[in-house]
Amino acid sequence: MPRTPVPGWYRTCGCMIGKGIILAGGAGTRLYPLSRVVCKQLLPVYDKPMIYYPLATLMQSGIRDVLLISTPKDLPRFQEIFGDGAQLGLAIRYAKQDRPEGIAHAFILAADFIGSDPVALILGDNLFHGRTEAFLTARSLTSGALIFGYLVGEPWRYGVLEFDAKGRVTGIEEKPDRPKSSYAVPGFYVYDARVVEFSRAVKPSSRGELEITDVNLAYLRRGELRVELLGRDLAWLDTGSPESLAQASHYIATIEDRQGVKIGCLEELAFELGYIGLEQLEGLIAKMPPSPYRNYVDRVARRAT
Ligand code: TTP
Repeated sequence: MPRTPVPGWYRTCGCMIGKGIILAGGAGTRLYPLSRVVCKQLLPVYDKPMIYYPLATLMQSGIRDVLLISTPKDLPRFQEIFGDGAQLGLAIRYAKQDRPEGIAHAFILAADFIGSDPVALILGDNLFHGRTEAFLTARSLTSGALIFGYLVGEPWRYGVLEFDAKGRVTGIEEKPDRPKSSYAVPGFYVYDARVVEFSRAVKPSSRGELEITDVNLAYLRRGELRVELLGRDLAWLDTGSPESLAQASHYIATIEDRQGVKIGCLEELAFELGYIGLEQLEGLIAKMPPSPYRNYVDRVARRAT
């Protein structure tokens, strides 16, 4: 049977950005008591653990060298699930964050991992779907920083961009009472290696965290912050509250059911992106229990034969 083309995958080629961090710790207070049982990023978003989606986004962005940061309690669970990542054609390493000291704290923990290379960071509870090609431009970053802007209805919950009359970004405010625009900064950022030193220089905010907004402002002050506005053809969902978690599950269920293809299926992605071959994919399928998920990945493998 001829192979059915599956639209929506971006073939990645030799890329300059190869390193990415997933920040998957935090307190998860808004999800209490769900977060008593298991950490937020392992909770289900419809048919997969939440962490699958940001990992898929990194993979689609051509990133294969991954550092996963989580709490001492939860880290072993992630290690058990993903191991060293080789089964997906990735290299996954792990680091502990003892306390939730802020998003920028991740770069201090990741100093050795980053070395002298650029790095992307994605938040473990952020879900992107649709035209994520914008993230591929991250691969061309050699110096400075790249962040994104996304139109939202409730900007005060996020870091918010401020623009001048010519549309240039002049400021970013963290969770402002009176947002100066409706553009929030989503949890996917790209930096050169100086992010480590800039993060070390950040002072804890009134809530006791090293704020990512302060790191972004450090680049902005130097004229080295690039901001790209994302279009409405990309869905950005965060899944940190019971309402947004339920909405994300409904979103994934609706699209998957309608299209008959899965979102954030890591095995499919690894195969379609050429990170693993057919034999490796078949090996992964053999280890899965009988389930609709296995049937789906099996169909992916059969399409290729
Ligand atoms: P948040 O949703 O801002 O914080 P949280 O997860 O602690 O949740 P809550 O506000 O309900 O207590 O964090 C965004 C993402 O970043 C999430 O995936 C957790 C992660 N994170 C860390 O891993 N370490 C940190 O120090 C912080 C602040 C967040």
